[in-house]
Amino acid sequence: MNAGRSTRAETLITSGACAVPFAWLVASAATGRLSPNPIEDVTHTTGEWALRLLLVTLAVTPLRRWTGWSTLAPQRRTLGLAAFAYATAHMLTWAVLDQGLHGPSIVEDLLERPYIWLGASAFVVLCVLAATSTRAAMRRLGRRWPRLHRAVWLAVALALAHYGWLVKSDESGPFAYACVAALLAGLRFLPVPARPGRHRTPAAPR
Ligand code: HEM
Repeated sequence: MNAGRSTRAETLITSGACAVPFAWLVASAATGRLSPNPIEDVTHTTGEWALRLLLVTLAVTPLRRWTGWSTLAPQRRTLGLAAFAYATAHMLTWAVLDQGLHGPSIVEDLLERPYIWLGASAFVVLCVLAATSTRAAMRRLGRRWPRLHRAVWLAVALALAHYGWLVKSDESGPFAYACVAALLAGLRFLPVPARPGRHRTPAAPR
């Protein structure tokens, strides 16, 4: 199988799995199983899944290197785009449902809760990455593409700072995510154990 391309079935399975939390949220809303503050529920669920999927995206490269399972590599794009979709839903929940797209309320909230700037900065980085995730953009950017896409680490750092700043008492959530991110970053520097018969093509670390 071509290691660089995913089959339609693989992409469908990954996309379907990524859509489960969203479907669960919609089903909970439709059956009245959300809390008395449904907007908060949607903001939290979409924010958490954006971050989780970003970390899963970053786990693909070390997993592929350690297992040699090359079929994983093309799923990185699907996972990254799913993280972007959750981040977009998260941002829109705040702008449309929470602030009613009312300019003065948005400005007031941005001034009152400065951690929103960090989330917004992470979102801008994700927009750039999503916009350059097409094959055409890869071709156009050439060797600059992997370098640009390393900015995913910047998006993760900003999202972690955003989350860490907004929690008031229990910081175990952001701390746990930060530990996972640090572990994933550290794994990139560990040498991969040699496997007999393995032909490695060095991939740009991301
Ligand atoms: C324009 C972009 C963004 C805005 C306006 C925004 C806004 C918010 C707001 C209002 C909250 C809830 C704060 C509270 O409970 O008081 C929140 C929580 C959160 N956001 Fe964002 N955010 C943005 C981008 C992001 C991005 C890109 C990520 C992740 C990649 C992210 C991850 C999270 C997480 C993990 C939480 C905490 C969820 C929880 O409490 O369980 N946010 N964000």
